[in-house]
Amino acid sequence: MRQPIGVIDSGVGGLTVARELMRQLPKERFIYLGDTQRCPYGPRPEDEVRAFTWQMVNYLLEKEIKMLVIACNTATAFTLEELQEQLSIPVIGVIEPGARAAIKVSQNKRIGVIGTEGTINSKAYPNALRAIDAKIRVNDLACPPFVPMVEDGILEGAEAEGVVARTLTPLKEMNHIDTLILGCTHYPLIRHLVQKEMGDHIQVISSGEETAREASLILAYHRALNTSNEQPVHEFYTTGDIEKFRVVANSWFEDPVQILELVELEGTRSSA
Ligand code: DGL
Repeated sequence: MRQPIGVIDSGVGGLTVARELMRQLPKERFIYLGDTQRCPYGPRPEDEVRAFTWQMVNYLLEKEIKMLVIACNTATAFTLEELQEQLSIPVIGVIEPGARAAIKVSQNKRIGVIGTEGTINSKAYPNALRAIDAKIRVNDLACPPFVPMVEDGILEGAEAEGVVARTLTPLKEMNHIDTLILGCTHYPLIRHLVQKEMGDHIQVISSGEETAREASLILAYHRALNTSNEQPVHEFYTTGDIEKFRVVANSWFEDPVQILELVELEGTRSSA
């Protein structure tokens, strides 16, 4: 099936999942939409995140996607169920895959989760972890400064290290965890800083790999994998600053992005 797979996020974070999807599904064509102009979603009320997510979904449905990957934990926490109920294509989020990946590696069943305020307050991770294993103990922490920093492309240096160190202090103080879930898809872009701060004894987990595995199993089950050998050309769309998006995307992918365009959703400005 040659139709593309849609991937959405509030900004550049979902690129971390997209890279893994492209690696595990090299024949598939992806259409990525980041609502960069309205990022961060993390501090926004649930209704607003749901409304914005639906706008992105409707945009991609017009492009006839065969599957939707919600590459945003905040949007997954608030909309996964209703999207799965209401869309006729398979929809997957990043929270259950992240929880599964962490459970696979944790020895002491004490798992840390960092994410946006929306994700952490929703308790979606503790629920997902305990749905798999009721004995899991969870320490979670919202890290609001991380997303704006990543969107600004500040991924290295003293400023970024300082922000990461200050923000993670409460988690380090209650540090009996052996595994830490990066419960926001922006965080793998600063994974090296988080790992350095937490120490090598902590296994830092991002959900991209497991999400891509789930996507490929579901496509195989539905006999919807693309079998053509034509090289896919991926498309990227943002509601925000194209050049800022390009810098982060090109630092993350091996090949420079080819198609990158500005889109206007209801309520976003086209002159962003
Ligand atoms: N990348 C997103 C997530 O995984 C959202 C970040 C934000 O917009 O606050 O939660």
